[in-house]
Amino acid sequence: MTNKIIKFGIIGCGLMGREFASSIGRWCHLTDSKAKPEIIAICDKNETLYPWYTDNFSSITQCTDDYHDLLSNPDIEAIYCAVPHNLHKDIYIDIINAGKHLLGEKPFGIDMEANNAILQAASKNPEVIIRSSSEFPYYPAVQNIYQQLQNDDFGDIIEVEAGFLHSSDMDPNKTINWKRMIEFNGEYGCMGDLGLHVFHLPLRLGWKPTSVFAQLSNLIPTRDNGKGEQVPCETWDNSTLHCNVDVNGKSFPLTGKMFRMAPGETDTWYINILGTKKSVRYSTKQPKTLWTMNYEPGKPQCWQYEDLGYAGLFPCITGHIFEFGFTDSILQMWASFVDELAGGDANGFPCASLQETNQSHSIFTAALKSQKNNSVESINYETV
Ligand SMILES: NC(=O)c1ccc[n+]([C@@H]2O[C@H](COP(=O)([O-])OP(=O)(O)OC[C@H]3O[C@@H](n4cnc5c(N)ncnc54)[C@H](O)[C@@H]3O)[C@@H](O)[C@H]2O)c1
Repeated sequence: MTNKIIKFGIIGCGLMGREFASSIGRWCHLTDSKAKPEIIAICDKNETLYPWYTDNFSSITQCTDDYHDLLSNPDIEAIYCAVPHNLHKDIYIDIINAGKHLLGEKPFGIDMEANNAILQAASKNPEVIIRSSSEFPYYPAVQNIYQQLQNDDFGDIIEVEAGFLHSSDMDPNKTINWKRMIEFNGEYGCMGDLGLHVFHLPLRLGWKPTSVFAQLSNLIPTRDNGKGEQVPCETWDNSTLHCNVDVNGKSFPLTGKMFRMAPGETDTWYINILGTKKSVRYSTKQPKTLWTMNYEPGKPQCWQYEDLGYAGLFPCITGHIFEFGFTDSILQMWASFVDELAGGDANGFPCASLQETNQSHSIFTAALKSQKNNSVESINYETV
């Protein structure tokens, strides 16, 4: 443990800005951190959000509605940026060009063109560390799956299904907001919101889909605008991407589901990996329970479960028999980013890379084409 402090600014103080700040508030949870983040500046167009931050963090000395003020603050080393998707391109590029390290929110650009522009800025500033937020791989069971896939023989992969399901748009009377408007959220709709969560682990494992057939649904095409008027709600609510993956000369299907209208689901991230010798299943519905099956000819085919408890990538004060949850995954993700800023290797699992965001954009761009043409589309991973 060192006393090194890394001074942060936050741009976008809404839902996710507060999650980050709260993680910093309980940094003492981590027992072996190379550095500690400190929030010294915040920026949001909505000034009513400032008091929650300034009441809880006495280290904040700058509140502004112009993000350029943070970029010209020489004390700020790193920035967390959590703003609507239409702003990612310009703000992320300005942060990178200002030489500040960046943890940005997915999808890292509203579309492929924006993502490529961010990558171009990054290539001109190689000293800046840039990562995308994606917290679900930091659940202990998901880390366990990642390790098993590195170390164990799964045989040939038969099939993979991964998904992120929630029901936040089930209510047809819910008022429209930026996440349901193409102008701010993008053509990807639910894929831009939920897609990196689904594809992050497969991409980290080297499972880059070669083709996709997409089924996208806009189930609620109009919503109330808050003034009693129905306005178009054109973003995709749900998407199912039927992908093909080639590994070692063999192919397997990978199905990715991103649902904003999944009855009964709150924030369910899951992955099922079936192999000829070994299989695993995990869902945040049962956040500590990992299911595994080893197949041996002639032996019973039995799924076993293990309750993993609190076994994060970065050690914490929490006893190992206690449960792990969403806010813990956010803390672990931040521990990973801060470890890299302090010169570490993120304990072997850095946050999502720029290349991984770019690969996810390739998948979503091909998925839009597939939906439009009712076709199977090849996925092109050429970058700028
Ligand atoms: N990792 C996750 O689990 C997760 C969950 C939800 C959202 N997100 C992502 O986080 C990002 C933000 O989503 P959110 O849910 O926090 O949205 P939000 O609407 O709660 O917050 C966005 C904030 O950005 C502010 N803002 C808008 N324009 C600005 C500008 N020019 N300068 C400064 N601030 C500005 C808004 O006033 C608002 O407070 C999105 O990219 C979204 O995809 C990630």
